[in-house]
Amino acid sequence: MTDVPLAEVVSAWYVQAQRDLPWRRPGVDPWAVLVSEVMLQQTPVVRVLEPYAAWLARWPTPAALAADAPGEAVRMWGRLGYPRRALRLHAAAVALVERHQGQLPSTVEELLALPGVGDYTARAVAAFAHRQRVPVVDTNVRRVVARAVEGRADAPVTKRDLVVVEQLLPDDPEEAATASVAFMELGALICTARAPRCPSCPLLATCAWVLAGRPALDAPVRRAQGYAGTDRQVRGRLLAVLRDAPEPVPGELLAQVWDEPVQRARALDGLVADGLVDPLPGGRYGLPA
Ligand code: ADE
Repeated sequence: MTDVPLAEVVSAWYVQAQRDLPWRRPGVDPWAVLVSEVMLQQTPVVRVLEPYAAWLARWPTPAALAADAPGEAVRMWGRLGYPRRALRLHAAAVALVERHQGQLPSTVEELLALPGVGDYTARAVAAFAHRQRVPVVDTNVRRVVARAVEGRADAPVTKRDLVVVEQLLPDDPEEAATASVAFMELGALICTARAPRCPSCPLLATCAWVLAGRPALDAPVRRAQGYAGTDRQVRGRLLAVLRDAPEPVPGELLAQVWDEPVQRARALDGLVADGLVDPLPGGRYGLPA
């Protein structure tokens, strides 16, 4: 149909369809990009906007965060969920101060060496903050490539995707960085997992999956984990008590948030093991100092 490269088509669509998100504005600070990417890892954009702004208002630099206790990071994390991410950001801030004069390094290799920064996050910072030509593959990008290029409904993210996606990027670093966020946005807004909006898709005419008749996934989709009654819910309640208390609290106060003692103890032990809660003398518990 067309010889225009995939990345060019998707980037042209992105220019007019993109959401105006604070971490995408030109010249955004690399630290802000790292914060946004860690928050967005397991949380939808709409839930991230407010905590993201509050976090950066309080800690505009890695040095500012590193100077505070890790427990303050857990407190600021609020109700975002998966709070170990707060500890990871704090640990990264400490490492940035110790190894990089409080600045975000620009190579993927140095970024990967930071605590809690994995393949996705390192490349997202290199591309979106430092405007480099590096493949950034999250589940959205993977799905777009699975459909548009490979003709299948979806595929799990593997290391090999870095090679596949790299080949799709334009040579120019700035254009490649835009293409990277454009693929992601197409997956988030149009090429969604459950109800793709194919009539609005810029790739409709050439999409290998559409041309193949939109074959279903061969593997069953994993159901989203429930929340009510899980240890995650108990952990959330326990942590909420500690976030809302200015000082460490007695264990009896924590006991009030969940009736079932075995599950409650298991959840609390888990929080302690993860470093999210400090057990203190006198049966008290607090956020990590
Ligand atoms: N823009 C850049 N990275 C993003 C992400 N992880 N989710 C949504 N929008 C983004």
